Amino acid sequence: MTWNRNRLTEKLGIDYPIIQGPLGGLSSQRLTAAVSNLGGLGSFGALSLSPEEIKNVISQIRSLTSKPFALNLWVSMEDDGAHSSDEAAFNRSLAPLASYFAELQAPRPQYRPYSPSRFEDQARILLEEKVPVFSFIFGIPPKEILDECRAKGIVTIGTATTPDEAVAVQEAGVDAIVASGFEAGGHRGSFLRAAEDSVTGTFSLVPRIVDVVDVPVIAAGGIADARCVISAFALGAEAVQMGTAFLTCEESGASRIHRETLMQRKAEFTGLTKAFTGRLARGIQNRLMSELEQERAEILPYPLQRMLVRNLSIAAEAAGRADLMPLWAGQSANLSTCTEVSVFLNSLVEEVSEIADPLTEWSAKRRQKK
Ligand SMILES: Cc1cc2nc3c(=O)[nH]c(=O)nc-3n(C[C@H](O)[C@H](O)[C@H](O)COP(=O)(O)O)c2cc1C
Repeated sequence: MTWNRNRLTEKLGIDYPIIQGPLGGLSSQRLTAAVSNLGGLGSFGALSLSPEEIKNVISQIRSLTSKPFALNLWVSMEDDGAHSSDEAAFNRSLAPLASYFAELQAPRPQYRPYSPSRFEDQARILLEEKVPVFSFIFGIPPKEILDECRAKGIVTIGTATTPDEAVAVQEAGVDAIVASGFEAGGHRGSFLRAAEDSVTGTFSLVPRIVDVVDVPVIAAGGIADARCVISAFALGAEAVQMGTAFLTCEESGASRIHRETLMQRKAEFTGLTKAFTGRLARGIQNRLMSELEQERAEILPYPLQRMLVRNLSIAAEAAGRADLMPLWAGQSANLSTCTEVSVFLNSLVEEVSEIADPLTEWSAKRRQKK
């Protein structure tokens, strides 16, 4: 046995159990394909794309790699109240942002009625295009969609932030489960309890999930270098999913200012907030996060708050103002060294290979004894 070969790598058809996590909004076809070409599994977060855009993304990724890759969707795409939220609520939530728009000399966004997108319409494209891997977060897709994935040979990966969620995802018949710890950058994809009550760290969450499911577990959250990868295998994971570590790579869809900030000392301090999108998510603590948290501003239901703050983010990015934009990051951002995917992945694989074999054998035996 070698550390990089297990039932999951076999199922996925990849050389290394290293997954570049979907980076919804900051994914890039280049990054996804680069990771897959190097033997890992690249993922593309397509949550905010229309079916037509998703189709184009899949074809672009396919033009860059013949290896397996994952497309990722959010099963639950809106929170209660999104439909009934009106212009008055929009103006109340815009009020605490108004001074930032003025500071950036950017026009304030205008209210527009909510026009929802449907998960089922997005998923239809993944099925039609027979993507190699369909990963999802924030819930479990309807049975018919998962049945069709199985019939078409599409590997499915669900996401859990608690052992209960992992059991529910396994019961739905998925092929693997991402155990997403508190440290992770981006959104907490909880769906059985409130995200605020589903905040277990990776070190506690992974073994607890490994103990209650039979399908392979993929550890996510705070994993950024060889030490973290090896620890995840020791905890019983059969693969790792890294997000922030890939965000810093030149190939990612993150802006230069975001990538540079991730490498700075200030990335050591991250926080969870609902103020950026309406759902709990982790980013670097900057002026925008702390002032909105302090103000206890009225937050629109997801995804309306996300759309509102996005206007500010675009203006801040254009002005080079890292203090006024969401800077998504996990707690291990300061461990990130990647500026180029090939250099990062090759050295990660080399380092892990030096020590991982005896450990993964031991871990596999322990799982069998369960
Ligand atoms: C900017 C950003 C966007 C993300 N978007 C998604 C997403 O759309 N879907 C998803 O399943 N996970 C998403 N994630 C989670 C990552 O795929 C990954 O599981 C997580 O980043 C792992 O934790 P780490 O950031 O500590 O490496 C996102 C993470 C970040 C940082």
